[in-house]
Amino acid sequence: MYRYIIKGGTRIQGEVDVSGSKNASLPILAASILNNGITKLYNIPNIDDVKITLEILSELGCKIENTEKATIIDSRNMTKTTIPDTLMRKLRSSIIIAGAILSRFKEVSFTYPGGCEIGTRPIDLHLNNFKKIGIKIKENTSNIECKCDRIETNQIQLDIPSVGATENIMLASVLGTHEITIKNAAMEPEIEDLANFLNKMGAKVYGAGTNIIKIIGVEKLRDVSYKIIPDRIEAGTLLIGVACCSGNIVLNNVVPKHIRSMLYKLAECGCDIYEEENKIQLKSSGKLIGTEIKTMPYPGFPTDLQPIFATLLATGKGTSIVTENIFENRFKYMQELKRMGAKITIEGRTAIIKGVNKLHGAEVESTDLRGGASLVIAGISAKGITTVNKIEHILRGYEDLDKKFNILGANIVREQVI
Ligand code: EPZ
Repeated sequence: MYRYIIKGGTRIQGEVDVSGSKNASLPILAASILNNGITKLYNIPNIDDVKITLEILSELGCKIENTEKATIIDSRNMTKTTIPDTLMRKLRSSIIIAGAILSRFKEVSFTYPGGCEIGTRPIDLHLNNFKKIGIKIKENTSNIECKCDRIETNQIQLDIPSVGATENIMLASVLGTHEITIKNAAMEPEIEDLANFLNKMGAKVYGAGTNIIKIIGVEKLRDVSYKIIPDRIEAGTLLIGVACCSGNIVLNNVVPKHIRSMLYKLAECGCDIYEEENKIQLKSSGKLIGTEIKTMPYPGFPTDLQPIFATLLATGKGTSIVTENIFENRFKYMQELKRMGAKITIEGRTAIIKGVNKLHGAEVESTDLRGGASLVIAGISAKGITTVNKIEHILRGYEDLDKKFNILGANIVREQVI
């Protein structure tokens, strides 16, 4: 177990590179089994969720090699079609590996991935739409078995533009002699990155990034090399962290349009933002104005930045309102922020935040990945010392968040808890 000890109040400025996207890497790693060959991936972040995904691929029979620059997956000797329960439980998004296994082997067995700290995380959209494209599903008490002789042509309409369900249906549909259309598809940049990867392998996926995606099945896929897009949520986390402190940051290896909605909100709160193609500069006085945010599917305000932006609003002038429309339990971190002096009232999916002049250091506990990151940012901007416990949540999805903030002038020490 590890914790961060953070000495707040330092001036934050400098230049830092953003790592590869966790939420693009996980589905693309799943897709790497489809070509029954070699896949070379660049810009994969060194985070625990990636390590667990590679453990699952290795358990299924793939050969994994990590060089200094690339992650290489050789899926030629893959034989197993059952995702081990112990690994399913470790990683919520392991469900998207199911679609890839189904596509290649026409069968898969897995256990319910289970909920997590931010919600129940059901998989009904995955399973119900699998059935609509010819996949037979047997739900037993302990596991789920899927089989299909062949994927059947169909048009499906998602009730919710679910990222995972869109990805899983794409993965299940790339091989075969059918045509699948997904309506009300998720439009996140990670969906587009997955489609670009699949098409580079020889798949026929059209419309990714819009709400209608068409997949025409192909017979075979080829070996591929591919570079993962930058992590837009890490980029947003770093920018909001600097905005909370009076600071000046240049972020490299970032795609401004991927966080357009959040950049508008930072400008609304009083930050100065300058953009180039793969670079964002942000200047902040540290004394910002409160605002209102409502999380929505892309291109709306991203739910993954809600906890982090709420931390900025905790010291924003006036009263701010945060509405979480995606997950039903994504305010748990606020209890910890209140221990640092934040003034927050929660009413269902809405939080009312009365800005205070400054947060103060305290001993707090990460509740989940993004909630944990919000506490790190609170500690950097607070007066005094903050201890953030249970940082394993943070290590799941951020590569060297402490090191990146320390490059910018923060004072974060990572300690092992005996
Ligand atoms: C992906 O999760 C991301 N994870 C999440 O990031 C992100 O918050 C989320 O998309 C929304 O953008 C990865 O990409 C690995 P959804 P996913 O299916 O696919 C409901 C992070 O912090 N739903 O789009 O699980 C669901 O309960 C993580 O990096 C069903 O009801 O999200 C939620 O309310 C957190 N039935 C809504 O849809 C289903 O079958 C959106 O979920 C599936 C989802």
